[in-house]
Amino acid sequence: MIQKIAVCGAGTMGSGIAQVAAMGGYKTLLFDVDPEMVQKGRLSIQKSLQTLTEKNKLTPAMQKTVLDRLSYSSDIRDCVADLIIEAIVERPDIKTGLFRQLAAINPPETILASNTSSLSLETLAASISHPERFIGMHFFNPAPLMKLVEIVHTSYTDTRTAEAVTAVAVQLGKTPVRCKDSPGFIVNHVARPYYLEALHLVAEGLSEMETIDTLMEAAGFRMGPFRLMDLIGNDINYAVSCSVYQAMGEPLRLRPSPIQEQKCAAGELGRKTGKGYYRYE
Ligand SMILES: NC(=O)c1ccc[n+]([C@@H]2O[C@H](COP(=O)([O-])OP(=O)(O)OC[C@H]3O[C@@H](n4cnc5c(N)ncnc54)[C@H](O)[C@@H]3O)[C@@H](O)[C@H]2O)c1
Repeated sequence: MIQKIAVCGAGTMGSGIAQVAAMGGYKTLLFDVDPEMVQKGRLSIQKSLQTLTEKNKLTPAMQKTVLDRLSYSSDIRDCVADLIIEAIVERPDIKTGLFRQLAAINPPETILASNTSSLSLETLAASISHPERFIGMHFFNPAPLMKLVEIVHTSYTDTRTAEAVTAVAVQLGKTPVRCKDSPGFIVNHVARPYYLEALHLVAEGLSEMETIDTLMEAAGFRMGPFRLMDLIGNDINYAVSCSVYQAMGEPLRLRPSPIQEQKCAAGELGRKTGKGYYRYE
């Protein structure tokens, strides 16, 4: 039975996932290699819970209970839990290194889940001991608000693992949907052209980003592609674009845009760095 959850990575996704895990009743640890990110994650959760309380969506007593369920660390040795959700940089080598460390300090029953948006879970699973306890648990951004969680099985995943993470997702108030391990799973596969076609229009001088965002929002999309890329993080979106492009056999229609590369090189990663396609306070 899952009682304690550890979330690895205190960035955009990890801090949101840790918040929903604690709100769902689990003892939750938020871990990051970077102590500054741990502190940033803690502040972002505290701010988010305070806003919920001010909007009467949480009582002050509930807010305290949720805060008391949370702990924070930049020491991997603290990452011992029944379920560990990895939400670190979208790099297979770094993720594999982390999972190996986690496998070494946790019992074989500990479920290891990855929040990767695009990497092959089958490949990640193959590098981990007891791969039957490994699964994809793909939350959406912002994790406290978005209902969908793609549950991605590999050929190794056993029923106990799948049932346990599905039950956790339901306990967190989410809608778990089983997906196959294919490039970008479902949502990121379908959404790729939304970003890339908009980038092509700008690169070819056929339109401007503000115009495209305004039009797409007027057409009914919640966020235009540039505003959405800034929310996601341009480094993450670029990594996902490259990963889906390579995994699909490099079709021209999915080729990442040079604009994405330029944004990453300039450190203009979106909301998280205060500047991306737009500026943020
Ligand atoms: N941003 C999104 O919209 C989104 C949505 C769904 C899934 N994802 C996936 O979630 C994961 C994280 O994305 P993000 O946007 O939160 O990234 P982010 O850049 O905001 O945060 C990544 C964090 O990982 C930390 N980190 C790096 N190496 C680490 C290690 N070895 N151990 C512990 N922490 C480490 C970094 O310090 C950083 O704080 C990626 O796999 C991404 O594909 C992102």
